[in-house]
Amino acid sequence: MSDALHEAFFALHHGLPRQGPGSDATTRRLLALAGPLPERPRTLNVGCGPGRAALLLAAEAGARVTAVDLHRPFLDELRERAAARGLSDRIRIERHSMTALPYPDGAFDLIWAEGSAYLMGFDAALRSWRRLLAPGGVLVVTECEWATDSPAPRAAAFWAQAGALRSGERNTAAAEAAGYRVLGVHELPDSDWFEEYYDPLARHADAADPARPGMAQAIAGAREEIAVRRAHGADYRYRGYVLTPADTEEKSMWTTPSRTPWKRRCGGPVGDPRGTAGSVPHAAGGGPGGGAARGRVRVAAGALGGGADAGRHDRRLCADHPGLGGR
Ligand SMILES: C[S@@+](CC[C@H](N)C(=O)[O-])C[C@H]1O[C@@H](n2cnc3c(N)ncnc32)[C@H](O)[C@@H]1O
Repeated sequence: MSDALHEAFFALHHGLPRQGPGSDATTRRLLALAGPLPERPRTLNVGCGPGRAALLLAAEAGARVTAVDLHRPFLDELRERAAARGLSDRIRIERHSMTALPYPDGAFDLIWAEGSAYLMGFDAALRSWRRLLAPGGVLVVTECEWATDSPAPRAAAFWAQAGALRSGERNTAAAEAAGYRVLGVHELPDSDWFEEYYDPLARHADAADPARPGMAQAIAGAREEIAVRRAHGADYRYRGYVLTPADTEEKSMWTTPSRTPWKRRCGGPVGDPRGTAGSVPHAAGGGPGGGAARGRVRVAAGALGGGADAGRHDRRLCADHPGLGGR
């Protein structure tokens, strides 16, 4: 990615509510699937972006959040939002790479990674973050994946250049191979792609100056991603995986007086026009349901590292790679 495109790409994305598909309802649903947590769970939010999930976890789960990202402007956005909501004392904001997190083993009760693990590769992320979990800890990660074995050619072509996807079965198997037990899965409803991500992004694209260096290409990339989603969203989806190390005891260990079960009721999936979104405890069906989709920050260009078997690793957007101007 050229410097001009890099700058334009981030100019287009700054100020969005979030930097990938998601919603507060989905964050709450994933929390419910995590089961009872300590009263003030030590929480690591990896690739926090502007921090929508960090804010909810601090405000509603009483979490002591360490929010990590490499892109300073996103961290600044989170700092401002936390201050505005009186949550600054509950959210520690640190600039680190997700590939080299400087925390001791067992430091966190909860690790939260919405739309970010793919940047270093799902499998590598799961393996390298596992040591950070305290006994009984939970990792929540959302990942884009195919919902069909035969995607439309346009969707297949888009994802071939934007990041190889694999099936839910493959992701579940990868999580288990990395030493986790799947506590639950939740498919993000189609509204999660649009209401707080694609719709605001489309408005930014409409308002952007195409004469600015790199901007025409950045706008075209965003519009193509949104158009593919509108046309072929049933072929791919975002799913949240709620995982715990496989050697974790059953979670009754949390139900001592000092460990309050997570009581918040999720409002249920927000409207899904296809009626396919939903979540299940793993025992009730860890395999993929049919369904809607998922999305994320992306521009067309560049190759990806690793094949689908290795999990995706998006070198264009992972700030560890020099092509991204130290982002
Ligand atoms: C698709 S966005 C998702 C952001 C946020 N979780 C959300 O849902 O709004 C991915 C995030 O990962 C961050 N990122 C990219 N490479 C990173 C790295 N090596 N270490 C930490 N964060 C990184 C980006 O700056 C961006 O904020």
